[in-house]
Amino acid sequence: MLDRVAIVTGGARGIGLGIAKMLFAKGHHLAIWDRDEEVLGTLSKTLNAGADRLLLQVVDVTNKAAIKEATDAITDHWSAPDILVNNAGITRDKRIINMTEEDWDIVLDVNLKSMFLCCKAVIPGMVNGNFGRIVNISSRAWLGGFGQVNYSASKGGAVSLTRTLAIELAREGITVNAVAPGIVDTPLLQNYSTEQRELLKKSVPTGRIGRVEDIARTVGFLADEENSYVTGQLIYVCGGRSLSNPSI
Ligand SMILES: NC(=O)c1ccc[n+]([C@@H]2O[C@H](COP(=O)([O-])OP(=O)(O)OC[C@H]3O[C@@H](n4cnc5c(N)ncnc54)[C@H](O)[C@@H]3O)[C@@H](O)[C@H]2O)c1
Repeated sequence: MLDRVAIVTGGARGIGLGIAKMLFAKGHHLAIWDRDEEVLGTLSKTLNAGADRLLLQVVDVTNKAAIKEATDAITDHWSAPDILVNNAGITRDKRIINMTEEDWDIVLDVNLKSMFLCCKAVIPGMVNGNFGRIVNISSRAWLGGFGQVNYSASKGGAVSLTRTLAIELAREGITVNAVAPGIVDTPLLQNYSTEQRELLKKSVPTGRIGRVEDIARTVGFLADEENSYVTGQLIYVCGGRSLSNPSI
């Protein structure tokens, strides 16, 4: 397998870091984008890597100019990106009565508009190279989740964006797929109390909370060079939680 140039957004921790480790272990050149400069700075050590195969770039994925600058830097350093994993995401959970317009805008900007902006930045290079793998991290919550009208809409938008881009790019050697994690043990989940975590665990048919490696393995499958005939798909990695409709 050829080594490729990959970007993982929100790759400083959690699921993104798991995906970054997986792509790095596969031998790809890897750019990690995150807004958290402090954690980003520790990643060369975590990945045990030098600058020849790793770029750590402070990028806020809501900032079009920063995305362009980082994409250009990758292209100058190595070559145009071949793999994009749109992973950066946030929650601002509240019932609609308490949710502000700002809560709506920030979640839609970070979770959905960022996918549009990052795709816009890398797709011309992928079209030139007649190859690309785009994987968008959605969520089981796109099916609906209490207190998550903003988050759920952003993750549903990610599914629609994936399907439409897949159609548009199918003749250019570019696949576009989405992964919908269920409940995964990451810093995002630390916002929940112990009682809430126990409740969540009980709602998973397989009886355990997901690990970042569960998600990374599926992203690895979709990002694989050989995997050219799966496009526009959403793969749930949620221990079967998508099969029922938990209200939490
Ligand atoms: N953890 C879960 O249970 C779960 C379930 C379903 C889907 N997801 C999705 O998986 C993805 C990763 O979640 P996680 O649990 O690892 O989250 P996390 O909070 O642990 O990590 C998210 C990372 O994204 C970065 N980030 C946030 N906003 C950013 C921005 N504007 N620009 C650049 N980087 C930004 C953060 O700094 C952080 O490093 C998200 O899209 C999330 O919605 C998570």
